[in-house]
Amino acid sequence: MKVAICPGSFDPVTLGHLDIITRAAKLFDKIYVAVLENSSKTPLFSVDKRMDLLRRCLTDLPNVEVITFSGFLVDCAKEYDAVAIVKGLRAVTDFEYEFQMALTNKKLNPQLETLFLNTSAQYMYLSSSIVKEVGRNGGDISDFVHPAVVEDIKKAFEKKEI
Ligand code: PNS
Repeated sequence: MKVAICPGSFDPVTLGHLDIITRAAKLFDKIYVAVLENSSKTPLFSVDKRMDLLRRCLTDLPNVEVITFSGFLVDCAKEYDAVAIVKGLRAVTDFEYEFQMALTNKKLNPQLETLFLNTSAQYMYLSSSIVKEVGRNGGDISDFVHPAVVEDIKKAFEKKEI
């Protein structure tokens, strides 16, 4: 069974993330979507909330499971028997950082491959930061996030729960 890991902050999950996960799920037998728990970035949504939002968007993909991790991604990949890390790559913006991470992960575990799927054209501009920026200011986020979680994310901004 070929297993891959799709890691990220998912703060919150966007349609761009879901596009990558959906495409990765067609290439591997099992995908673990790994939500980073401790990061130097301070997330807006708690790890439980981020996992809950992801799970609600991924109900149609039986070979995808949402997990959390802290520490090194390569250790998480090993624990779950993943042979590859799958990440989305937007034109230009992501390249340098993602390349650096891929090479560092390769140093930490030479057996583990990093595969990049190009972001689909319609999501090239999209990021969690855009969702937060628009959501915080009361804008319409329905073009950015899955319909199953639009209301929940909007409410969270309104109530300032996050
Ligand atoms: O969605 P993001 O914020 O781009 O995801 C970044 C993530 C979670 C993939 C990256 O920060 C990560 O793998 N962090 C875990 C620590 C680690 O293993 N770093 C790489 C070697 S220093």
